[in-house]
Amino acid sequence: PMIKLSDYQAPAFLVRHVDLKFCLHPTATRVFSRLECVPNTGKSAFLLNGEELQLISVEIDGKPLADDALILTETTLEIAADALPDGDFTLCCETEINPEGNTSLDGLYMSKGMYCTQCEAEGFRKITFFPDRPDIMATYSVRIESDEPVMLSNGNPTASGPGWAEWHDPWPKPSYLFALVAGNLVSYDDSFLTMSGREVGLKIYVRPGDKHRCEYAMDALKRSMRWDEQVYGREYDLDLFMIVAVDDFNMGAMENKGLNIFNSKYVLASAEIATDRDYELIEGIIAHEYFHNWTGNRITCRDWFQLCLKEGLTVYRDQQFSGDQRGHAVQRIDDVKMLRARQFREDAGPLAHPVRPEEYIEINNFYTATVYEKGAEVIGMLRTLVGAEAYERALTLYFQRHDGQACTIEDWIKVFEDVTGTDLAQFKRWYSQAGTPRISVKEDWDGNTYMLTLTQKTDPTPGQPDKQPLVIPVASGLLGSDGTELHSTEVLVLDKAEQTYRFEGLPEKPIPSLFRGFSAPVIVERKISNAERAFLLANDTDPFNKWEMGRAYALDLLSVLATDAESTIEPDFLNAMATLLEDQTLDPAFKALALSLPSIEDVMDAVRQGGGTPDPMACYDALSRLDTAMAGRMKGTIEQIYNALDNDGPYTPDPQAAGERSLRGRLLGLISRLEPNVETAMRHLAHADNMTDIMQALPLLIRAGRPEAKEALGSIYESWKHNDLVLDKWFAAQAMATPPEHAAEAVAQLTEHPDFHWKNPNRFRSVIGVFAMANVAGFHRADGAGYKLLTDWLIRLDPVNPQTTARLAGAFETWRNFDDGRQALMLGNMQRIADLKGLSKDTGEIIGRILEAK
Ligand code: ARG
Ligand code: ZN
Repeated sequence: PMIKLSDYQAPAFLVRHVDLKFCLHPTATRVFSRLECVPNTGKSAFLLNGEELQLISVEIDGKPLADDALILTETTLEIAADALPDGDFTLCCETEINPEGNTSLDGLYMSKGMYCTQCEAEGFRKITFFPDRPDIMATYSVRIESDEPVMLSNGNPTASGPGWAEWHDPWPKPSYLFALVAGNLVSYDDSFLTMSGREVGLKIYVRPGDKHRCEYAMDALKRSMRWDEQVYGREYDLDLFMIVAVDDFNMGAMENKGLNIFNSKYVLASAEIATDRDYELIEGIIAHEYFHNWTGNRITCRDWFQLCLKEGLTVYRDQQFSGDQRGHAVQRIDDVKMLRARQFREDAGPLAHPVRPEEYIEINNFYTATVYEKGAEVIGMLRTLVGAEAYERALTLYFQRHDGQACTIEDWIKVFEDVTGTDLAQFKRWYSQAGTPRISVKEDWDGNTYMLTLTQKTDPTPGQPDKQPLVIPVASGLLGSDGTELHSTEVLVLDKAEQTYRFEGLPEKPIPSLFRGFSAPVIVERKISNAERAFLLANDTDPFNKWEMGRAYALDLLSVLATDAESTIEPDFLNAMATLLEDQTLDPAFKALALSLPSIEDVMDAVRQGGGTPDPMACYDALSRLDTAMAGRMKGTIEQIYNALDNDGPYTPDPQAAGERSLRGRLLGLISRLEPNVETAMRHLAHADNMTDIMQALPLLIRAGRPEAKEALGSIYESWKHNDLVLDKWFAAQAMATPPEHAAEAVAQLTEHPDFHWKNPNRFRSVIGVFAMANVAGFHRADGAGYKLLTDWLIRLDPVNPQTTARLAGAFETWRNFDDGRQALMLGNMQRIADLKGLSKDTGEIIGRILEAK
C-alpha cells in the first residue's frame, strides 16, 4: 500500500521505556519485551508492527489478554481499545525469531556466525512487536543472554556475568536506533576527552585478526568528535562509543545510539588492503555516522518523509568535515561529480522524487541520492543565502529548541526564519519540487554596463507536471580579458523565472564565472565558445569553475568524437591540458581531477544535449581517443612527472601523499594509452607495496587484454583469497575493466567462481553492481547480454535480499536515454521482473515506477 505524508497522524500511544531480554539462539532466539505505554490521543486500539515473528505470549499489566482482544495479521498486532486500561499500562510480549534464516539483513540476523542488527528504517518490527515509528522515543534497558564472548547494545554497560550482559541507554530514542551485537569479537580501544572534560571510552569491535586494521578508523573518529565540538559545539553524551564491523551489510553504516554498525569495508584499512579512496570513504563515513549522534539521534525525524532532515544535514556536515581535513576545492569537485552521476541521473528519470518525498510503498527505496546528496545541497544553499554567521545561530537554536524531539522540515525551516527574520516559504520549494533546474544565460554589454539575464526552468517529473521558480543562489564573479577579477564573488539571488543583473562602470565586457563552487544543484545551459572555456580554465580564481571549464571543453570535443569518429581534436584543448599539467602552482590532487576526462555517462548526456542518441560503444571509443591524444601531446612531460612522483618512502594515507598518488595514477593511465604492451603499468604493479598502486595498474592490464593480467590476478588471488575486502576488489576490477565487447561473458564467468558468494551484498555489488554501473558500454551491449545477465541475477537475489535487489534494479532507470533496440531489450527484461510471482515490494516498487513512467 502507498504511504502518504498527508496521512500522518500522531501516535495513539507513546512508549516511555522499553525493557528487552534476548536469549540468543541462531534459529530460535527468544525476545521478551516490556513496554511502558502512555495513551496519547484518547481512547483507541493499540496498533503494533511485527513481521516474521512468532508470538508466544502477550500480557497487559501482568494479565494475559482474551483471544478476542487481539487481532494478529502478517504485519501487525492490534489490541482492542476495550482491553486496555484508561491510563498508563505495561505491555509484555514474548516472541521467537530466526536470525540465521534472516537473509534480508534487516532486523536481527547473523553475519559469519555473529549476531547483529539493522533496524533503520523498519527492522525493529522483525525483532519484537512494537509501534515501530520514529516519533515514539523511549529509553531502553537490554539484557542479552548467550554464550558469545562479546554482547553489546546501546548506551552504557550496567552489569554483566558469565553468559549475560546488561545495557542501559538513558537517551530517549526511536526504535530504528536500537542495536544488538553478539559474537567472537575483539576490540581496538582508545579514549577521548570531551570539551567539558569527560572521558569517553572508544571501542572498535572486529573479528580476531582484523585488529591491526582499525587504527585509521579510530583516528578518523577522534578527529570527527573534536570537529563537531569545535565547529558545531556538539559534545558526545555517553561514557562509551562503539563501532562494530560486519561483513554482511546492505548499506554503508548505521548510526545506532552509542553502537554504530559498519560495513567492514568502511572500517578496516591498511596500506596493503585499502586504497586511498577507501581511506577517504572510511573517514567520511565514520564522521557521518558520528555526526548523526546529534543530527539524527538527539534530534530525530517525526516520520520517514522527513528523512532528509537528518540525512541531508548529516551529509552536509560530513562534507564540511572532509573539506576541512582534505581541502575544500578537491572535496567540492568530488562531491559534485557524485551528485551529477547519481542524483542528476535520478532526477532526470522515472525515479525522480523530491528531497522530501510525499509518498512511498517501501521506505528503504528512498535512501537515495536525492534525499542524501541533494538534501545536503539544499542546506549548502541555505547557508550561502543566509550567511555563515546566521547559519551558525540557526543551528544553535535548532539544537536548543528541538533536542529530544522528532521533527519535521517545517521545524528546520522555522529556526532559520526565526533567526534571520525572513520568510523562507519559496526556498522551501527545494524540498517539495523534484527535478534539476536548467539555467539559461544571456549577456548584454553597452560599453559601460554589463547585463546578465538568467532564466530558470525545471522539466516535468513523474507526478509533477508544473514547476515553480526556486530560490537559487548564483555565486558569480567577473573577469577581465587579462585574467584579473573585475568583480569578485557575489551571490546573485535568482528567485523568478527570469531576472536581469546589472554591473555598472566596467572597463570592458567581462567574462562571467557563474555558480562558483557549484553554488546550486542546477544544470547551466550556457553556450560559450571553447576559447572562453580555455580562458576560464586558465584564469578563473575559483577552483571549482576552473575544473568545470576543462570538463565542459572536454565534453564538447567528446560529443563530437562520439558522433563522428573521424573528426579532429582541437589542439587548443590539448595545449590547455599540457599547460595545466606543467603548472607548478596547482596541487597534485586538483591536477589529477582537472586532467581526468568526464565519465562515459557524461559523454552520453552531452550527445543527447546535442540532439543525438548516444551509442555507448562510440562514447567509449571517443574517450579512448581523446585520452590517447592527450597522452601523445604531453608524452615527455607525463613521463617525467610520473617518475618524479615515485615515492620510495612507506605508504601513508594522508591527503598530500594520496593526492600525489592520484596524479601519478592518472599519468599512468595516460602513459598506458601509448603502450600496447603496458610496460609501465607492469612495472607499476611489480613495484606496488600498497593497494592504491595495485588498483591503478591492474585495470590497465585487464583493459589491454594482456596475458600478464591473468598472472597478476592469479597471484593476487593466491595471496588474498582469505580476505573478502581484497577479493571484492579483485572481482570488481575484472567486472569494471574487461573490454565492453566481452564483459558480459567475463562477468557471467565470474559468477561461477567458487568465491562468488552472491548472498553477501558486497560481493554481489562487486560483480553484478560494478558491471551494471561501471562497465557502461559492456552493460549496454547492443545484443542485450548485459541486461539479461543483470536481470537473471536480480530475479535470483530478490527473494533472498529485496533491499539490495531493489537498489541495483535502478540500473535500468536510464532506459529512455537509449535507442529503440536497447529500450525494447531493457523493457523486456524489466517486464520479466515485474511478472515474477512473489516479487518483493522493494523491487516491485522500483520496477513499477520505472515501467509506469513509460
Ligand atoms: N542511516 C544510515 C546512514 O545514513 C543508513 C541506513 C540505511 N538503511 C536502509 N534501510 N536503507 O548512514
Ligand atoms: Zn546518514
